[in-house]
Amino acid sequence: MSKVLVFAGSARRDSLNKKLARVAAQNARDAGGEVTYVDLDEYPIPLYHGDLEAKEGMPENAVKLRDLFIAQDGFIIASPENNSSVSSLLKNTIDWLSRDIGDGKGNNSGYAPFTGKTVAMMGASPGAFGTVRAMPHLRQILSALGANVLGRQVPVGGAHKVFDAEGAISDPKIAAAVKSLAEALVKAAGR
Ligand SMILES: Cc1cc2nc3c(=O)[nH]c(=O)nc-3n(C[C@H](O)[C@H](O)[C@H](O)COP(=O)(O)O)c2cc1C
Repeated sequence: MSKVLVFAGSARRDSLNKKLARVAAQNARDAGGEVTYVDLDEYPIPLYHGDLEAKEGMPENAVKLRDLFIAQDGFIIASPENNSSVSSLLKNTIDWLSRDIGDGKGNNSGYAPFTGKTVAMMGASPGAFGTVRAMPHLRQILSALGANVLGRQVPVGGAHKVFDAEGAISDPKIAAAVKSLAEALVKAAGR
């Protein structure tokens, strides 16, 4: 069974991307994945700063997330688009986790949380284009860290109108696309 971590690149309480990530997590569970959903708001990490790292090392919450990432076969990431690129929260999280640390577990390389992991990208935005401009940037970042990012991706535009009061996706085409990508991720991550 493939182990899949699902999270959003937004900490906002009413985040559209958290809603999307929760739907994808359930889809991945239904597809037989061993799924963990994580809310990054529960793992606050300071902005990356070289002096802070030199003085205090990797923040405790980043170490926790790093261990969690290393234990997975794949990730489903639902990220907002900020100024045509990935959210600062997501980039900051990846930057901290990509630092080399001597954790004594044989996973010292900064690539360890990402190398060989399969990733599915999705994203929700109220705008018309979803997060389609941010996705190539996220693909580049993760690929450089050794992850295998699936070619298929799901940008959800007009996302403020897409979720019902229970958080389900009301548009059947979008619901099917999210489900299909979550299933593909579970399958590919298990190989
Ligand atoms: C600084 C900033 C930049 C943004 N840039 C974009 C953008 O380039 N494209 C876009 O579709 N939406 C953009 N937005 C709108 C966000 O997509 C929207 O706020 C979204 O709901 C945030 O994700 P969340 O609901 O998961 O928190 C931007 C929002 C902020 C705060």
